[in-house]
Amino acid sequence: MNFFDVTLAPPRADHILIAKYIVIVLSLMFVPYISTLFGSTLLSLIYSFRGKNENNPMFSRLSQDIADTLMGGWGMAIVMGMLPIFTLAACFAQMLYGAEVAIVQYMAVTLVAVVVSIVLAMWFKKSFNSREAHFTRHLGLGLLAIGAFHFAFFAFVSSVTVLTFPEKWPLITSAIPLTFDWNMVARLAHFITLTLAITGAAMIFYFFNWMGGKEGVEGEYRDYIRKLGGGLTLAFTVLQTLFFVWYVATLPEMAKSQDIYTLSVVSLAILWGITVMAYFLLANSELKYGTVIFSLVMVFLLIVLVNEHIARESSLSYQNYTLQKLSTELEEKIALDRAQRGGAVASIETGSEIYNAKCIACHRFDVKVVGPPYMSVLPKYKDDLASLKAFVLNPVKKNPEYPAMPNQGLKPHEAESVAMYLLQKYAEMSAEPAQ
Ligand code: HEC
Repeated sequence: MNFFDVTLAPPRADHILIAKYIVIVLSLMFVPYISTLFGSTLLSLIYSFRGKNENNPMFSRLSQDIADTLMGGWGMAIVMGMLPIFTLAACFAQMLYGAEVAIVQYMAVTLVAVVVSIVLAMWFKKSFNSREAHFTRHLGLGLLAIGAFHFAFFAFVSSVTVLTFPEKWPLITSAIPLTFDWNMVARLAHFITLTLAITGAAMIFYFFNWMGGKEGVEGEYRDYIRKLGGGLTLAFTVLQTLFFVWYVATLPEMAKSQDIYTLSVVSLAILWGITVMAYFLLANSELKYGTVIFSLVMVFLLIVLVNEHIARESSLSYQNYTLQKLSTELEEKIALDRAQRGGAVASIETGSEIYNAKCIACHRFDVKVVGPPYMSVLPKYKDDLASLKAFVLNPVKKNPEYPAMPNQGLKPHEAESVAMYLLQKYAEMSAEPAQ
């Protein structure tokens, strides 16, 4: 059907459930990584430019230090960025298995955009080595990376939004034009402010708290970094509070629930805590708050992700139901497959599998469906497995009140298995006193 479906595990109910938890765990890695990468690319680009333009060596040093301290290397890019986004895309595609929506194209666009942004950011970082000689190239790479990040965030946020709006799926038939929704704008605003708040908090944490702080950061320079990191955290946490409320308010009705509101209140309390601490860090140079602020930002992110998961689950209830159905059908097919391949020896288990896959459409034991209830036709086959097997293998017209039973195309040992199963079940059921 499409690349993901054939490449990955079939969408069985248990796989989907695992996929949903994987989404939370991986987002908890991916979002902080990509946020810090974006924020630090932006900051080091700005300070690299200002350093050169204003001939300010402190700014030039700062841009280099931000790139060295916050951007990570290729290993991190693969483990925290590329692998998670690939897996996330695959998990989302599984969750939407069978839905009529161009979501897989969306995911593919997002995937490519994220990978391109990461690669450009890494090249930009590398270009620090030769920035004296090739300053324009250095700036160009930074600008390209920032552009790519914006596109990637747009694609990422759109795909995630689409998941919560099943009523829009019929309108989404290609990867490019997105159906407009305010919730999507709110999410994008929230996401961008979140990335910058994370960058601010990460800056304080990695410059001052992590493993005793970075060496050689003193005096005026130290103060500048504290103000920059603290200021970013403070400003973007305040902004984020607004956008977060906006995002919750514009969730589709179907997605809203008591849980969402409760968690949102907790999130707001955390944002408030971050705001207060960032303020103290700025006003009284309380650098020891750095670790708490950074941890709180991560807790906030976790709650946002759980919130998102709950909203998605309520929005996707119909999709989940469809998936459950597909999953059951698939399991039946697998069972039948196994029964058909599995040796020529008749067994009650095989019989039960065949019954569930092939006969149940027309037969029940005690009610009439298309065919007669088994309880009414089996008495004549009691102790006569051979005749029952013969009938199942090659049904002949029996009762004038019913149409003829179509041949089910079973192999002899399968017919025998199902006959064994029917007779055993019949014996059990007739032994029980009628209810
Ligand atoms: C498409 C519907 C359909 C399916 C699928 C189907 N049956 Fe039937 N079955 C019928 C109908 C209709 C009759 C009644 C035929 C008649 O009386 O001529 C019937 C009759 C029977 C009878 C009674 C025969 C008798 O002597 O009165 C048995 C036993 C039976 N089916 C077993 C099976 C088994 C086992 C399977 C699965 C391998 C199966 N059927 C699948 C429609 C179906």
